[in-house]
Amino acid sequence: MLDMSVEKSVLDFNIRNLKVEDIKEVYKLLVENRPYVGLNSRYTYFLLARDFSNTCVITEHDGKIIGFSSGYISPSRTDTFFNWETVVHKDYRGNKLQKTMLLQQIKNANVKYFEGTVNPSNQVSESNFLELAELLNAKFEKKILFKEEDFENDGHETEILYRIGPIAQSKLRTTEIIQNSR
Ligand SMILES: CC(C)(COP(=O)(O)OP(=O)(O)OC[C@H]1O[C@@H](n2cnc3c(N)ncnc32)[C@H](O)[C@@H]1OP(=O)(O)O)[C@@H](O)C(=O)NCCC(=O)NCCS
Repeated sequence: MLDMSVEKSVLDFNIRNLKVEDIKEVYKLLVENRPYVGLNSRYTYFLLARDFSNTCVITEHDGKIIGFSSGYISPSRTDTFFNWETVVHKDYRGNKLQKTMLLQQIKNANVKYFEGTVNPSNQVSESNFLELAELLNAKFEKKILFKEEDFENDGHETEILYRIGPIAQSKLRTTEIIQNSR
């Protein structure tokens, strides 16, 4: 039987900034992962690629987009990167790509604080945020950002905000998760 752990350890991933030309594939990835990840209009993703390319990334494997993570530097708190959506293709999960993309985004944003929200049912993302705080040797706070009632009880879960920081520049520079073999 094929040893999946060995196969995964030799996978070659490339994380780079989002481009407008990526949106067709990114949108397909998001559609495939509904309802675990929100699906917004294509136009939203085009704008992310056009105006927030520095803080949005994709992961490629074998020329195919298998991961996407969006976010921006908060216009009112310019020391803070806010992570919006992250998704990894189901066949490539378990390779720490969520944490690796988030770390890359924080590095690109060059900020002291990370913020991201998690739904109460998403234990994988919650553990990954906590592990990220640990890796960066930074404190974290959590609080409710938007309640179910704020979404008029349309099935959207509560969004719990995790704020990580302050992140030391030296720690940010030296922290790596996946060592890319390219
Ligand atoms: C949340 C998500 C991005 C994490 O993906 P990832 O980076 O591949 O996850 P990790 O490598 O950190 O693995 C985390 C855990 O997932 C589980 N996992 C591992 N391999 C897996 C696989 N092939 N399939 C499913 N789950 C797996 C394991 O429990 C693992 O824990 P471990 O550290 O004990 O191995 C991914 O699960 C996903 O895309 N989910 C749907 C969208 C979503 O929830 N996005 C976040 C909110 S916007």
